[in-house]
Amino acid sequence: AIPLIIDTDPGVDDAFAIALAARSPEVELVALTTVFGNVSLEHTTRNAQRLLAHLGRTDVPVVRGAEGPSGAADVHGEDGLGGRAHTLPENDRALHEGDVVEFFREHVTAETVVAAIGPQTNIARALEAGVEFPRLIVMGGGLGLGNTTERAEFNFWADPAAARTVIRKGRPVVVPLNLTQRCIADPAFLDAVDPVLSGLTDTYRAYLAGRSDYEGILVHDAVAVAEAIIPGTLTLKTHLLDVDDEGALVEGKHQVEVAEDTDWPALKTFMEQRLSV
Ligand code: BDR
Ligand code: CA
Repeated sequence: AIPLIIDTDPGVDDAFAIALAARSPEVELVALTTVFGNVSLEHTTRNAQRLLAHLGRTDVPVVRGAEGPSGAADVHGEDGLGGRAHTLPENDRALHEGDVVEFFREHVTAETVVAAIGPQTNIARALEAGVEFPRLIVMGGGLGLGNTTERAEFNFWADPAAARTVIRKGRPVVVPLNLTQRCIADPAFLDAVDPVLSGLTDTYRAYLAGRSDYEGILVHDAVAVAEAIIPGTLTLKTHLLDVDDEGALVEGKHQVEVAEDTDWPALKTFMEQRLSV
């Protein structure tokens, strides 16, 4: 199995991404590293622990990463999981004492895939400290569009300098909003999967329903993790990019693989099968 570390700020779509990885034999979940983002680091870390307990994986360590100003409680709820984090079991066992950069330094091997599905703060710190990521898959950015400002996607907006470091030094596969906003997990999907997971989605659904013409949720982070599980799920194309001070993905001189397309009906069926209990 492919060793996988998920750097995450759970977050409802992060929860789907983590569950997808935990229920996929193609990957071996090495750790969850946490970052502020959708909510505070305290909440994202606790959510990561609880999700692992729900998934029967308290053996997977959770490594606390960077704190920062959080900002999407309107989307993901005050607790980051639609006000439903308490429906997941508590888990004190999984917390790893130690620095996240050192954890990456010690545990990222030539085979390891790192999927970074929150603000890029931990990954940027590691890159600055000389850690190399042989395969880094990042959910973030939008080409000519945003979901937090007109031009900036949330993960890149939350720490533009870190996103810039990752684009310039990390040789990532970038899974942008342009693709993920086409990946709608519709009510039929939510009905078919683990009810504990779909039980986390009400706040997020209501938020999206108020500003879109579809029903359901966007599973941004799970789309990125799917590429870690089955390489080739997403169609990649090389772009020359950079990140500006607002966190917008813009044209530049740094070579990045951008996920441009996927067979979403097929991927949705795959996720549905993996996530149903
Ligand atoms: C990204 O922002 C977060 O709110 C989601 O979890 C996802 O990682 C989408 O823009
Ligand atoms: Ca996320």
